[in-house]
Amino acid sequence: MYNFDELIERRGTGCVKWDECPEGVIPMWVADMDFAVAPAIQEAVRRRAEHPVFAYTLVGDEYYEAIISWFQRRHGWTIAREHILYTTGVVPGISCVIKALTMPGEKVVMLSPDYNCFFSSIRNNGCEVNESALVFNGERFEVDWQDFEARCADEKTTVFLLCNPHNPTGRVWSKEELQRMSDICHKHHVRIISDEIHCELVMPGNTFCPMGIIDATAIILNSSSKSFNTAGLQIANIICTDAETRRRIDRAINIHEVCDVNPFAPLSLIAAYNESEQWIDELCPYIWENHNALCDFVAKHLPQWKVMPMEGTYLAWVKIEGCENVEAYCDELVKKAKVWLNPGTMYGPESGKGYIRINLACPRALLMEALERIKDNQ
Ligand SMILES: Cc1ncc(COP(=O)(O)O)c(C=O)c1O
Repeated sequence: MYNFDELIERRGTGCVKWDECPEGVIPMWVADMDFAVAPAIQEAVRRRAEHPVFAYTLVGDEYYEAIISWFQRRHGWTIAREHILYTTGVVPGISCVIKALTMPGEKVVMLSPDYNCFFSSIRNNGCEVNESALVFNGERFEVDWQDFEARCADEKTTVFLLCNPHNPTGRVWSKEELQRMSDICHKHHVRIISDEIHCELVMPGNTFCPMGIIDATAIILNSSSKSFNTAGLQIANIICTDAETRRRIDRAINIHEVCDVNPFAPLSLIAAYNESEQWIDELCPYIWENHNALCDFVAKHLPQWKVMPMEGTYLAWVKIEGCENVEAYCDELVKKAKVWLNPGTMYGPESGKGYIRINLACPRALLMEALERIKDNQ
């Protein structure tokens, strides 16, 4: 049994989430977790730190074997070693793949609201964002298939950038939905990039399906970093089955100078995938209980809040009924309630209007303290 209730002091560690946050404010914004990593990861890093040379690093056979074995046994997805390229993060990886697949001026479809770095990765490569807004059907967010197809059919669209599971709405896309996305993309000669960094953060009753199982031509990005809380160690993988596309992505990785990882990063992935399965299996139910605690609290005390169903990730997507300006709402919460949440407009200037995103990956006591403060300042 791991203790996710432990409050760990993170201030003073150069921590973006806490040290950028004014004193006394509870940070529930940037997507990392306030939990200690699995013991095997800490031990692997500690062991490596005892060797006094921290020079350029190779990832080695064990690294590839850990990835292949994990995705085979957890998700039934067979990955060939030669299809894996590593880089320093999922976001740098996305940028490299967009660079490899597009020409400036082309359009990239995404399902908005969507992870904020998607917007910048697309634009930084000279491409245009082509947002297909998700629709809430009363139970969950769904793709507006007509709109999605029309955007894929646009002759300037060459790529669809998917987030699976979806940050910020918490959707874990079903096999049927993934198949339909793939069918539409093939019909219109649109390449698929799927960011699957949240793939182990799946709530009870839901099943994650890698896009690579549905569509072998899709280019997949993943990392152990989000699920195992090692984002600061910076490593991610790009899985691409086509040799020519892979060669171009490899070139882009070199052009972007994101080909060298640090000595701790591959070891953290190996320790996560080979020795920390029990940890993630206990973590997800804990996050689910945080989500349930949030829903109970909202039902009792925050009548204008409506929590969207969270199938995956640790990010709650909450509608604030009648709120015209969520940026001002979040600013007020920092000033008065001393809680830092993200305004939904960060994830889509239009589609995120009226929503906020709350990071639930913290000890329950901290979550409840934040909610009490919000209630007292409504
Ligand atoms: C969907 C998604 N992709 C990528 C990242 C960041 O990945 P990395 O730190 O490996 O660049 C995040 C972080 O929140 C995310 O939510």
